[in-house]
Amino acid sequence: MKLLITGAGGQLGMEWMEHLEGTRHQPAGYGSGMLDITDKQAIQKVLDDEQPDVVINCAAYTAVDDAEDNRDKAFRVNRDGAAYVAEACKTRGITMVHYSTDYVFEGSERDQKKLPDGYPEHHPANPQNVYGASKRAGEEEIKRIGGDWLILRVSWLCGVYGNNFIKTMLRFSKERDELKVVNDQTGCPTFCSDLVVKTMKLVEMEKKGYFHISSAGAITWFDLTEEILKLTGRDHRVQLTAISSEEFASKAHRPAFSLLNCEKLTRAGLNQLNWKDGLERLLSRVNEIEEEL
Ligand SMILES: NC(=O)c1ccc[n+]([C@@H]2O[C@H](COP(=O)([O-])OP(=O)(O)OC[C@H]3O[C@@H](n4cnc5c(N)ncnc54)[C@H](OP(=O)(O)O)[C@@H]3O)[C@@H](O)[C@H]2O)c1
Repeated sequence: MKLLITGAGGQLGMEWMEHLEGTRHQPAGYGSGMLDITDKQAIQKVLDDEQPDVVINCAAYTAVDDAEDNRDKAFRVNRDGAAYVAEACKTRGITMVHYSTDYVFEGSERDQKKLPDGYPEHHPANPQNVYGASKRAGEEEIKRIGGDWLILRVSWLCGVYGNNFIKTMLRFSKERDELKVVNDQTGCPTFCSDLVVKTMKLVEMEKKGYFHISSAGAITWFDLTEEILKLTGRDHRVQLTAISSEEFASKAHRPAFSLLNCEKLTRAGLNQLNWKDGLERLLSRVNEIEEEL
């Protein structure tokens, strides 16, 4: 199978490129400098040249806080870009895999009480920040355009490449004696390596529609940091303090609750990874890479 990866230089795109190396599948990676998904003609030309079976759309505007001031840019990439990819795939009979986010949901404490196991795929979207609204608009466009599509919503994405919360906490825990981390936002990480493997299986099973993919558990950023410190043996050296979202000012509103219910995935035969196992694996990969440097 030939897979074309957009946004191949991003966190998830790089994980895809690494994963496909040495498999029986043929990868074609396009970073943002090689293919801008807001350029309709460029997408069509690349798909005509490459003739992939599947497009894995990892390209996105992901700067959640900056999106509050750059609404047009966020919608241009996350809605219009996604739509151009969907149209080009549909007319060529190519399957499109697109990634979306937990931030399409309201994320209120009221929802947390009603949905202790998380948001299922069919729950009505109600994004509370510009990034979430732009990603939801992209989902709606892909669905409207039709064709063979798979929209995978993920949360708290973390991998060895690019920037993410776990890598930031690892760095801070080396540089600082004290860490203050929010303890009133509940969710669960999606690990890039697990996501790529599960995406590949869903593609091979020819699944279509929406799926939620995250690791199993319901934790806060504080819980995640506590475990990072424990696993790296830095828990005695770094003082960890729980704070509220109000104390940690950020431009974009962050949901109090963004747990994804992944039962549909489990029913498809793909078991959720436990978040602690995912974290351990990620930390050991980060370690290996640092040792190689
Ligand atoms: N990170 C998370 O916590 C999280 C959570 C939920 C869902 N997601 C979703 O998961 C997917 C992957 O996210 P990620 O963490 O891998 O993001 P990322 O590291 O920011 O990667 C996104 C990539 O898209 C590229 N890009 C931006 N605009 C583009 C354009 N117009 N044309 C082509 N490429 C463009 C970026 O290139 P430049 O760097 O050159 O701009 C970057 O390489 C996204 O759909 C995101 O919305 C992420």
